[in-house]
This record gives sequence, C-alpha cells and structure tokens, in this order.
Amino acid sequence: MAEVLIDEATLRERIRELAAEIDRDYAGRTPLVVGVLNGAMFVVADLVREMSLQIEMDWMAVSSYRSGTKSSGVVRILKDLGADVTNRDVLLVEDVLDSGLTLNWLLRNLQSRAPRSVEVVALLRKPEARKNGVRVRYVGFDIADSFVVGYGLDYQQLYRSLRCIGVLAGPVPR
Ligand code: IMP
Ligand code: MG
Repeated sequence: MAEVLIDEATLRERIRELAAEIDRDYAGRTPLVVGVLNGAMFVVADLVREMSLQIEMDWMAVSSYRSGTKSSGVVRILKDLGADVTNRDVLLVEDVLDSGLTLNWLLRNLQSRAPRSVEVVALLRKPEARKNGVRVRYVGFDIADSFVVGYGLDYQQLYRSLRCIGVLAGPVPR
C-alpha cells in the first residue's frame, strides 16, 4: 500500500489557491480547460469548481511510451479534443511532470492549432522537470523523485481513486 505524501485537506487548499490565481489571471476571458486523461481528471474536476470564471472544458487522452518508468517522448493521441482551439485561451491541466517530455509534445501539438494562448497547470512537478525548465505556469506541489499514486495517478491503472497522494511502499516499480 501507499504512504501518504499529500493529504486530502492539503490538496483541497492548494487547488483553491490555484483556482483563485487563475481567476485573477484570466479575468474577463473564458478559458478552454483541457484535461489530460486519465491522470488529471480529479484535478480538473476540483479546480474548475473552485473557479468563479466561466470556462469550457475538454479532454485529451495520450499515451507516452515508457521504458521502465521513464518517458521516451514518443506520444500517441488516444482521444483528441472535441473543441476547436483556434483563438482560444487554452489551459492545459496535467497530473505530474517528470521529464516533461509528454508535456512538451502536447504543447507543440496544441500550438500548431493556432490557439490565442496556452498555459499549463500541473498538480505535481518532479525535480527533473524543474531542472529542465519545463514551461509550466501553475504548479501545485514540487515533490521529490518518487513514484506517486492517488488523486488520479495510477500504478498499472490502480490507486487512482485514492483521495490523497501517496508514495508506493517498496522499490520503485519497473
Ligand atoms: P514525463 O513525460 O516524464 O513528464 O511523464 C509524465 C507522465 O508520466 C505523467 O503524465 C504520468 O502519466 C506519468 N507519470 C510520471 N510520474 C508518475 C508518477 O509518479 N506516478 C504516476 N504516473 C506518473
Ligand atoms: Mg499523464
């Protein structure tokens, strides 16, 4: 099982702060909030309900090929957006940035569709993404380099429904 890294109350409080910040930054606009499935589902659900702005919501699902636990940067779209992002203010919501390769690929893909702006919300950021200067405007928590689960994040599709974020006990899964 998992050991708690970020409890439910701490998640709720941080999401509230991010929502307030986004409300201020996007005042007068109607951003298109794009959640990256499946990991970002609870972040999006909780974030948009804490915001008072009008928003639209859409979803993308991607799979990043990994060798072991590391991203390869090769990404495949499993489900594309329904919305046309031309001229929209896109707010891309990710669960966790590790190498940042998945995000970089998504950013390039979205930029090619001529949005007015694209900014990134990531609930979690690991040290490598921080070091690599991955372009992210709103970060929930900077965490250590461990494998985390819960609040949308999975290990082999399990643990997504945990209300907190936990570190898997035992060795880093391969
Ligand atoms: P990156 O491309 O290396 O930044 O990896 C990002 C993606 O890998 C995330 O969107 C997750 O799907 C997955 N991932 C990376 N670290 C973790 C973790 O600690 N737990 C669960 N999934 C993770
Ligand atoms: Mg993901």
